[in-house]
Order: sequence, then C-alpha cells, then structure tokens
Amino acid sequence: MYRYVSMKGIVLLFLSLVIFSCNKDETTIPSDNTFKFETPSYIPKPIYEFTNNPLTQNGFELGKLLFYDPILSSDSSISCASCHFQSHAFADQNLAFSKGVNNLIGKRNSPALFNLSWNSSFMWDGGINHIETMPLAPITNHLEMNENMMHVIEKLNRNKTYREKFKTTFKIDSINDQKLFYALAQFIGNLQSFSSKYDKVRQVKTLYSSEENNGYMLFKKHCQQCHTEPLFSNFEFANNGIDSIYADKGRYLITLDPNDEGKFKIPSLRNIALTFPYMHDGRFSTLEKVIEHYSENILQVPNLDTRLRKKIQLNAKEKQELQAFLNTLTDFEFIQNKIYNKP
Ligand code: HEC
Ligand code: HEC
Repeated sequence: MYRYVSMKGIVLLFLSLVIFSCNKDETTIPSDNTFKFETPSYIPKPIYEFTNNPLTQNGFELGKLLFYDPILSSDSSISCASCHFQSHAFADQNLAFSKGVNNLIGKRNSPALFNLSWNSSFMWDGGINHIETMPLAPITNHLEMNENMMHVIEKLNRNKTYREKFKTTFKIDSINDQKLFYALAQFIGNLQSFSSKYDKVRQVKTLYSSEENNGYMLFKKHCQQCHTEPLFSNFEFANNGIDSIYADKGRYLITLDPNDEGKFKIPSLRNIALTFPYMHDGRFSTLEKVIEHYSENILQVPNLDTRLRKKIQLNAKEKQELQAFLNTLTDFEFIQNKIYNKP
C-alpha cells in the first residue's frame, strides 16, 4: 500500500511529526516556580485566570494531592477522585449516580471535569458561580464527603506534610479555607483537554474520514447552537425536551423562575464517548440513545428550547455519521497525561 503514498503525503507526515514533537512538552516551569499551560490559538481567553491565586508548580501539585486524598471526607473514605476518574475524563466510572460517605447515593450524574476555567458556572443547575468556592459543595454535602470545613481544616493542620506544603506554597503557618480552595482551584482549573482528533484536524495535523466529516456537517446544523465550538458548550441553560414532569427541576431550583423548570447547564461534548451514561440523571446509557432522543423523542413541552422545536429527524446513516464525529472529541492524551495522575 505505502508504495502509493504521494510526495505530498510524506511532506505532511514529516511536518506533523515536527509539530507533534515541538508540542509534546507544552507546560513550561520557570525557575521561580510559576507556570502556565499553553492553549491552542483558537481557544478563547479563559474566565478564570488565577489573578488572585497565582499559579505555581507547588500550588498545582498541592491541589492534586488534595484532590486524590480522602482526608477531605468525614470518615476519610472518599476523595474527589472517588467520583471523578481521570480515565473517564474525570467523570465517574460510568455510574448514573455516585457513591459518597456511608455508601449514600447522590442525586445527579457526576460530570466530567476539564476546561473548567472557561466555565461561567458550575453544577447541572449552575448553582455555583466561582471555581474557588466550588469544593465547598462536595466537601459539605452529606451524600458526598459529608464533612464540615472547620473539621477538614483541623485535620489538615494536624498533618505535618500538609502544614509544610501549604507553607512553601502560600507562605502561611496555619492552613485556612481560602488557601485550601486556592490549591484545589490550581489543580481543577488546569485540567486542560485540547488534544482530541477534532483539535488535531483544526491544527491541520490530520484529516477527518468522510464519515466524520459528514457528521461534523450534521453537528453544525443541529447541535452547534448550544454545544458550541471550540469548547462544545455555550454555557447557557436549556431544556432539551427529555421530560414533561420534572423529578429534578434544574435551574429553577436556583432562580425560582417557572420558565427555568427542566433547564440544565449545557454540558461540553468534549470526551463525550468516555462519560456515559448521559444527562443530569444518567438516563441514557449510550450515544445512540442520545442521538435517538434528539432525532425522534424530543417532548414539545412549554419550556423546550426554541432551537429544538423544529424536528431534527436523522436517518440511520446520518445517526452513525453524527456519532463518528462525536467520537473525534475524545482526548486520549488528556486521560493518560501523567501530570494529572494520582500522586
Ligand atoms: C460522591 C461523589 C463526588 C465527590 C466525592 C466529589 N464530586 Fe464533584 N461532582 C459530583 C456530582 C454528582 C456533581 C454534580 C452535582 C450537581 O450538579 O448538583 C459534581 C460536580 C462537580 C463540579 C462541577 C462541574 C461542572 O461542570 O459544573 C466540580 C468542579 C467538581 N464536582 C469538583 C469536585 C471536587 C474538587 C471534589 C473534591 C473536593 C469533588 N468534586 C468531589 C460528584 C462528586
Ligand atoms: C437547545 C440547546 C441544545 C441543542 C440544540 C442540543 N443540545 Fe445536547 N444538551 C443540551 C442540554 C441542556 C443538555 C443537558 C440536559 C440534561 O442533562 O438534562 C444536553 C446534553 C447532551 C448530551 C449529554 C451530555 C452529558 O454529559 O451527559 C449529549 C451527548 C448531547 N446533548 C448531544 C447533543 C447532540 C448530538 C445534539 C445535536 C443533535 C444536541 N445535543 C443538541 C442542550 C442542547
């Protein structure tokens, strides 16, 4: 076969090898211990820029240690990573609902965690609006880590390793809530996922198959208005017609506006093949079922988003093409990236 590879092909291959090898080590750590993650040129500026919480190698490493440490839960059994697995783009291991302290089961599907510095709000209902206060919710929720802040801080202050690490990172003798949140923000705010096939195509390092390309056209026609490139969300709240009676009222629980019943934060579709089951309650086990919903089963409820009122109706071939495109959003480098591994 490769006898027929054209000269142009060889040049392209050579060029992409050069580009790949230059890009390999994107994160640079200067000697003053500050560091910065490089993002591709087509990615907009993040919302969270570590302005009050300057990013350092020590801070990132400390955040990672805390993320993987069950010390943040009341009985030291559950860490952030118990529900957010790197192998699943930091979603749970394909469970609809996660298990917290005392084996209690949560009420919503654990979302994937990546590119969080671009999010304007957090949680399925957007109930939290700052990445630095984000960890308060899982730490204190009785279905998750079931802890109280005073007790966590006490435990951390009793721990010599943490005392030393907080001292080198933040120049403090006694650990407090704010610095705990800063450290966690340095880790979760830097879970960057921009190395999917989609990204490689945008960087002209590879090409879509014709099936993927047809899927991309369908995506742009039917999905792009909400799952907007390049982050694959516009971060709005929408009702996508999965229910007529709301067991979970979503955004309404925050705004108490009846027009917000059944609206949820539009999730990013990056890494979507890894994060099944789908929707805020994990009701769809496969992407086939999600696509079938958008094609055939959207409920014409009063709060249904206007962008979904017109029927989408895809045939079997188109459904496959759309799924092939969604599969190009998987970032295998991200889920294997050693800098995010359990320390
Ligand atoms: C018991 C399982 C569990 C644990 C432990 C847990 N989480 Fe979560 N996480 C969830 C669930 C479920 C949600 C969605 C909750 C909702 O929308 O109401 C969530 C949401 C989030 C979000 C919001 C993501 C988004 O896109 O809006 C972030 C960030 C997050 N968790 C970080 C953490 C951190 C940091 C820790 C540790 C301090 C942690 N989680 C511990 C289950 C868990
Ligand atoms: C009107 C905005 C809107 C449009 C258009 C839209 N979606 Fe969604 N999508 C949402 C919302 C909102 C959710 C979350 C709903 C929930 O959890 O209850 C969602 C969830 C999803 C999920 C599950 C994500 C997860 O992490 O669980 C997938 C997959 C998905 N959409 C794919 C698509 C595809 C494919 C299209 C085009 C055929 C599309 N969406 C069009 C708003 C939209």
